[in-house]
Amino acid sequence: MLENCKIISNACIGGSYYKVIFKAPGISPKVKPGQFIHVQIANLRDRILRRPFSICDANAKGELTVIYKVIGEGTAVLSKLTSGTECNLMGPQGKPFTIPGKKQFPILVAGGYGSAATYLLAKKCPQKGLLLIGARSSADLILVDEFKKSGFKVQVATEDGSIGTKGLVTKLIEGVIREPPAKNICFFGCGPHGMLMAMGKLLLKNTLKGELSLDHLMCCGIGACYACVVKVKDESKADGWRFARTCKEGPVFPATAIYYDGK
Ligand code: FES
Repeated sequence: MLENCKIISNACIGGSYYKVIFKAPGISPKVKPGQFIHVQIANLRDRILRRPFSICDANAKGELTVIYKVIGEGTAVLSKLTSGTECNLMGPQGKPFTIPGKKQFPILVAGGYGSAATYLLAKKCPQKGLLLIGARSSADLILVDEFKKSGFKVQVATEDGSIGTKGLVTKLIEGVIREPPAKNICFFGCGPHGMLMAMGKLLLKNTLKGELSLDHLMCCGIGACYACVVKVKDESKADGWRFARTCKEGPVFPATAIYYDGK
């Protein structure tokens, strides 16, 4: 659906990361974890174009939260918008994460601000589990306290070793696979491409269940630019694979459906 939404607040939460909360009473109650919205950014030169953003949080009161990193003109303009400014939102869009059952122990894996796209899932999980979060340094970690408040335990890895385990988040995944914290573990990941590919391969190698959000590949978010194409399993094809647009068929895919180089 399309909705004109006023900004309730929009502020820097550290470094180049910002949190914007929209008043979206129509869209917000419909949001499922892992979905995204298109924002027509007020005051942007080419404001006809919309930008896709993963949804961090949404509630029945109509508050819809997006966490974004300022990386280009669109997000730079968005970061300057003040409360009361109206933006047109379209959504919610995309295939969501599957909310695990009561007997499944969720392990969320987030790289960088991939934690934003998995936060609503953490809130909706009936059994609270474990968040494995990785970032370049402690300054790039976001939402850790919020995940803890939602009932999740948190393990941190930083590339520079400024906090937690030194190295990549995949090191934490390997540790959890070696010594599972519970029965019936299932994984959910969102983050940079390299992290997701490594995670997917680990899950397949160990026959573990999981879903990956490839939201980082999205550009136009409406199926027009083909920047988000990935190879996915399709038994009906001669070679067993076909190409899919992440923004149309994802952003969430089962780990078993994705093609991994060198698999
Ligand atoms: Fe442009 Fe998917 S993001 S086609």
